[in-house]
Amino acid sequence: MNKVRVAVLGYGHLGKWHCQKVEAHSDIAEFVAIVEKFPSGQEAAKTYHPKVKVVNDIKEVINEIDAAFIVTPTSTHFELVSYLLENNKHVFCEKPVCSNDLEAQKLKEIAASKNVVIQVGHSERFHEAWEKLRNTFLNLPTPYTVRINRVAPFKGRATDVDVVQDLAIHDLDLILYLFGQKPQSISSTGYKIRTTKWDHASIKVTLENECEALITVGRNATREVRDLEVISKDGMISVDLFANKIFVATNSQFDDGTFVKEDSYQKRDHLLLEHKHFYNSIREKTPPIVGLRDGLNAVHLVDCTLNSLETNKLVQVKSVE
Ligand SMILES: NC(=O)c1ccc[n+]([C@@H]2O[C@H](COP(=O)([O-])OP(=O)(O)OC[C@H]3O[C@@H](n4cnc5c(N)ncnc54)[C@H](O)[C@@H]3O)[C@@H](O)[C@H]2O)c1
Repeated sequence: MNKVRVAVLGYGHLGKWHCQKVEAHSDIAEFVAIVEKFPSGQEAAKTYHPKVKVVNDIKEVINEIDAAFIVTPTSTHFELVSYLLENNKHVFCEKPVCSNDLEAQKLKEIAASKNVVIQVGHSERFHEAWEKLRNTFLNLPTPYTVRINRVAPFKGRATDVDVVQDLAIHDLDLILYLFGQKPQSISSTGYKIRTTKWDHASIKVTLENECEALITVGRNATREVRDLEVISKDGMISVDLFANKIFVATNSQFDDGTFVKEDSYQKRDHLLLEHKHFYNSIREKTPPIVGLRDGLNAVHLVDCTLNSLETNKLVQVKSVE
């Protein structure tokens, strides 16, 4: 089978890593081009990838590729995904796949008539912890409460978007994936601290089984925390996503007399796995591991959260499929 001819769009913070992963798949992917708008990025791309064509517009190489990785700012995703789909190219788009529900609807319409792979970069799904825990989470006794924290000190990155589009989108997607329950409503409060956009948000998601997920995201915190915990009558499970550890406290004692069991899991290269799945879907003609529907669901939950932040009201979730 021929190699998949690919371009990476955007040679910024994450685009550099995507380029490395394309090179790591040289047995199945041919690295045709890097598309970068700005001269400083173009120079860096030429230095680190001297054999790859560097251009400033996707139109220059559209007839030379089969697939593209979109790693540009979120505001450009809709236009780039649409253009690639209209040209029948396979697309991997970093999250969020587009900026709002209006764009989501248009993307859905464009994609409906296309027979290509569309994968969305919800990389937080690739923690090995979820392979160990997802079945347990899907079968938890109700009621249960989920708590997710994703906060860090200010790094000055991704300030073109708010903290909901940048960070909470991962957790809104994880709620759908790990608990298999449609959200019914969202209420949220937040703060604009460093920028003119939401820098911190506390989000309460009520699920269709009436359980609650409480998400806290922030980019101006005093320390870095990334964890998830679930509490029910069976006890508590918590996952430290930095330390790659799982802690379990049940409603009884463990055989060795302790009350908390600790387990660890391997840190994985999420981006490498995403690339592997993308090429497999293209070559085997199988559905992507995280598809357009997942991406659009996450965008809708982000829209509901932002609506709640702006209006200070509870918002009903309508179109999660
Ligand atoms: N999955 C994750 O965990 C994760 C992590 C970080 C970033 N991201 C996503 O990746 C995307 C990029 O983030 P980043 O931090 O690398 O941003 P960045 O600003 O560092 O890089 C974006 C690059 O795209 C270039 N660019 C802008 N418009 C372009 C266009 N039309 N064509 C080609 N190049 C263009 C910019 O010049 C810049 O070099 C964002 O959507 C972000 O949400 C996802």
